[in-house]
Amino acid sequence: MSEQAPVSVIVLAAGGGTRMRSKTMKVLHPLAGRSLLGHALHAARGVAPDHVVTVIGNQREQVSEHLAQIDPDVVQAVQDQQLGTGHAVAVGLASLGDALAGTVVVVYGDVPLLAPETLEAFLDDHRSHGRTLSVLTARVDDPHGYGRVVRNADGSVSAVVEEKDATDEQRTIDEINSGILAFDAVWGRDALRQVGNDNAQGEYYLTDLISIAVTQSRPVGAYEIDDAVQTEGVNTRVQLARMAAEANRRIVERHMLAGVTVVDPDTTWIDVDVSIGQDTTILPGTQVLGATTIGADAVVGPDSTLTDMEIGDGASVVRTHGSLSVVGAGATTGPFTYLRPGTTVGERGKLGAFVEAKNTRLGVGAKVPHLSYVGDGDIGDGANIGAGTIFANYDGVNKNRTRIGAQARVSSNNTLVAPVDVGDGAFTGAGATIREDVEPGALAVSAGSQRTIEGWVARKRPGTPSAEAAERALSEHDSDDDVQESTS
Ligand code: UD1
Ligand code: CA
Repeated sequence: MSEQAPVSVIVLAAGGGTRMRSKTMKVLHPLAGRSLLGHALHAARGVAPDHVVTVIGNQREQVSEHLAQIDPDVVQAVQDQQLGTGHAVAVGLASLGDALAGTVVVVYGDVPLLAPETLEAFLDDHRSHGRTLSVLTARVDDPHGYGRVVRNADGSVSAVVEEKDATDEQRTIDEINSGILAFDAVWGRDALRQVGNDNAQGEYYLTDLISIAVTQSRPVGAYEIDDAVQTEGVNTRVQLARMAAEANRRIVERHMLAGVTVVDPDTTWIDVDVSIGQDTTILPGTQVLGATTIGADAVVGPDSTLTDMEIGDGASVVRTHGSLSVVGAGATTGPFTYLRPGTTVGERGKLGAFVEAKNTRLGVGAKVPHLSYVGDGDIGDGANIGAGTIFANYDGVNKNRTRIGAQARVSSNNTLVAPVDVGDGAFTGAGATIREDVEPGALAVSAGSQRTIEGWVARKRPGTPSAEAAERALSEHDSDDDVQESTS
């Protein structure tokens, strides 16, 4: 077979998945940041195929929409009735037209751990041996439920027999059919027409292709892999969790081997598309999700959840919950910081304890250290926002912006009523409510001057513990005054 012969991958995803007991179709359930189907397609794309077909049926609107989002170039073939894997592949093949030649590879939409490299190696093995058909197999401890690979005395493959059709002797075979198959397209199109449904399940079995090829004395072979989990499918949520943990274990290990310190791999969850720089440390209880990227020499965690975030080199992100935001190089967040979408912390900037930020840009070295809400803001380089400050960005109808100039000092417990502008180098007083723009270098105060009414508690709240405490303090104060008066 020439190198130029096209490769077509057919992904089977029409089955019911009823054991998930879910409104969501099985293959759409997420694992490590991708749907199960997304993983299968990722493996399929790894062999640089000329065509990719996904066979859909159950809950097909959901699956179709998802496919259009994640891989719009996939051909969608509809299998109206789930008559078996052989029928599903025939439907997929038909969608590519009668003229299709080359190699067809079949994978399952519910097998998430299949590595692109494995599929590539399988395809290379199939082509280099010039086989009509190859099947990917593995030996497992518990082969129950799988099709068994029956071999002749000389080791050559003679058939795959389904559990329900197997003899007692065949059931003792521990080499299983992964379901992943490669075959010659022209041959397969014809052979699939010969597949019947006279078996224990009344289904058109894809696996019948193997005995058909053997009967025709065509070259057939098995490609056995050691890493059986790559062939495992998800049928229940119990398996979903187990496979997700295994996927995570592999991802975390890959990062550790690339120079990332992961203090507790068991409580660290990293999605498959995340990138992390060298000598970054991930502390326990941390989830790094979606398309998050983390630079080198950063510290993330403990107990942080970062989704689609960009974390710069040397940043420190402690007990932080953030999405679609940027933390610049050398910047710090946390503990207990909430970064909502559109937030950017400048280099060496800070969002400190109990701070919520949304759609706000902090310049280089700008700081919001304590107990604040900064929404729809622009905070200039080197500016500092005092503890307990609120950007009142919402007037009940519109969201408005608050601009704080470079090196400005907003004092504690301010309310900035947007839209409002505090100029470069301006100061505000403690407890101010800033409704009007502040010129560069000005001081704005808005709290009234303090008025103290002496003896108010004794007159208005007589006999209360407060009044008694005040009376005690005042009498001590009086005697102190006496002493001071007599000595001065
Ligand atoms: C199949 C294999 C079995 C193998 C096992 C590996 C056959 C006959 N048996 O069994 O040898 O060990 O997979 O997991 O092939 N599907 C469709 N349309 C259908 C039927 C199935 O799209 O009409 C899809 C399912 O969505 C699923 C895949 O094909 O992704 C496998 O179907 P399933 O019913 O799970 O096959 P098994 O009985 O497990
Ligand atoms: Ca199955």
